[in-house]
Amino acid sequence: MSYPFQIASFDEYEKAYKASIEQPEKFWADVADTFSWRKRWDEVLEWNFREPKVEWFKGGKLNITENCLDRHLESSADTPAIIWEPNDPTQKSRTLTYRELHFKVVQFANVLRNNGISKGDRVCIYMGMVPELAIAVLACARIGAIHSVVFGGFSAQSIADRLQDASANYIITCDGAYRGNKEIPLKSVIDDALVQCEFVEKVIVLNRTRTPVSMIRGRDVWWDEEVQKVDSTGNPDLPAVEMDAEDPLFILYTSGSTGKPKGVVHTVAGYMVWTTYTFVNVFQYKRGEIHFCTADIGWITGHSYIIYGPLCAGATSLMFEGIPTWPDAGRFWDIIDKHTVNILYTAPTAIRSLMGFGLDPLKGKKLDSLRVLGTVGEPINEEAWHWYNENIGKSRCPIVDTWWQTETAGCLISNLAGITPSKPGWATLPLPGVIPKIVDEKGDEVVVAEDGFIKGNLCLTAPWPGILRTTYGDHERCRTNYFAAYPNLYFTGDGCLKDSNGFYRITGRVDDVLNVSGHRIGTAEVENAINMHTGVVESAVVGYPHDIKGQGIYGFVIYNGLEKDMELIRKDITLTVTRIIGPIAKPDKIQFVSGLPKTRSGKIMRRILRKIAEGETKNLGDTSTLLDPGIVEEIKNGRV
Ligand code: WTA
Repeated sequence: MSYPFQIASFDEYEKAYKASIEQPEKFWADVADTFSWRKRWDEVLEWNFREPKVEWFKGGKLNITENCLDRHLESSADTPAIIWEPNDPTQKSRTLTYRELHFKVVQFANVLRNNGISKGDRVCIYMGMVPELAIAVLACARIGAIHSVVFGGFSAQSIADRLQDASANYIITCDGAYRGNKEIPLKSVIDDALVQCEFVEKVIVLNRTRTPVSMIRGRDVWWDEEVQKVDSTGNPDLPAVEMDAEDPLFILYTSGSTGKPKGVVHTVAGYMVWTTYTFVNVFQYKRGEIHFCTADIGWITGHSYIIYGPLCAGATSLMFEGIPTWPDAGRFWDIIDKHTVNILYTAPTAIRSLMGFGLDPLKGKKLDSLRVLGTVGEPINEEAWHWYNENIGKSRCPIVDTWWQTETAGCLISNLAGITPSKPGWATLPLPGVIPKIVDEKGDEVVVAEDGFIKGNLCLTAPWPGILRTTYGDHERCRTNYFAAYPNLYFTGDGCLKDSNGFYRITGRVDDVLNVSGHRIGTAEVENAINMHTGVVESAVVGYPHDIKGQGIYGFVIYNGLEKDMELIRKDITLTVTRIIGPIAKPDKIQFVSGLPKTRSGKIMRRILRKIAEGETKNLGDTSTLLDPGIVEEIKNGRV
């Protein structure tokens, strides 16, 4: 049985797109009607991008976990909901059917309640990729607590910042996490963060690695012991808490071009409708298939396409604890073979890194269960696209290049697998409900093509159900970040090209946000971290093309401390960034300079630094407006 809103041909895509633009309220009401509601909405949509205010399915009452779990119990209780593959391939994988997952979510929801957590509370989740992470997320949603998952690669300081920003009083974590041959001491990182966050009342700790941890009486409790307490009372069937369509479901922190990461807020109903609709249509999911999204649940891709989208659709979602290159570079291919995976959704950076190992790791791996391949997170270069297509998809699996953002909840521009055409390196056509507009610096629509393409900054003109609603605790920041650059438009921060077929190619960020291995990192954030290092006077960070990561981090640093061993200082600065943000933000290159190219008004000319970092030495553009044009020569000569 296919899904009522599944688009089955190009003609149907065109019709759906047209209907979604001409009668958005009717279109989305029809989709929303296929979900389970406690009470139907009063009004489908109310919005303006001025404030901004976006409300979908206003007055509707529901709980997203009843859509992810309960409603599948009648017909598909024994369908696997989650198949979990551990880090170590010699250990057993685990399967949780919808019945089992439902049981465990209700059980853990009871644990949360017993620990004083209730609707509206913010719960920070800092765990490895174990099934309990999905259970924790869903248990929060079941009782209406707002989860804020923090990726395991962030530092204690980053966690403390997020705990404070969200005033999160509760934490769910693991003693440790396995990633390849490493063991990451998550609880001990949490302990460091909590030195600054005395307001945290409870820390629930799952035993995964049984690494020694400190457990503070009254604050820290073991997951298993709490579950046993619930079991001894017979796991009372905790009814899901009734939520308003526009109640927050979660906060997810993401980097912008200025300041600290902001807490993007998604609300229950719109997020549910958008992730499910896009999951079913982009991947053309067929019931019974196994969907393998390789992202970490610490990022939006994991939220939307490991947990909520697939589970709402009653799909089987494969969750992998480890990394693609351990114990060897054939790990993904082993998993596909072992679990007969049908859909593989991964990042260009992973593809490029695996390409580097050649074809040996593919030998003897059966990949013929694959039907659809997907990419997300950054532009995919044609070489990687063709390698993926020929060696993994054997030229018979459509590749969906899905463009979207943390703020958009799910895919906005993407081909639909096997239904709409693909073009290597191009995200192609907008999904129903998505109305792109390409503007120039002034905000005027670009209508004239240059070299065959319309080029400019990508904006969206109307809300789709999954658009972010606010940034936690600071609505004004949401307005200035996304809705102020151009009046009445949502500005994505991305540049793009549009060809004569109306296909879009996203070319990368046009703001000061880097995309390193598909992870978003603000240059300002990295600069702040570098500047905290003693002896650093000032720094400027830019991205440069990196063969595997897509972009690497290049820091120009003015240093006048006492230590004279520059190699040592370089290491010290790297360690400082790791401590302040996390290993994902480590600069790949640091160049010590005596000054930075600044305009007379004191603004750093990043354009020049970017060109130097890219290896461009000639066409640096106009440098005459610089305070000290001579500095450019010095920086050029000292490039690392
Ligand atoms: C980039 C990840 C090109 C883009 C889902 C965007 C892409 C940022 C693509 C969001 C793609 C994502 N082609 N670029 N298919 N997908 N991006 O919030 O710059 O981690 O703005 O969300 O990744 O990153 P985020």
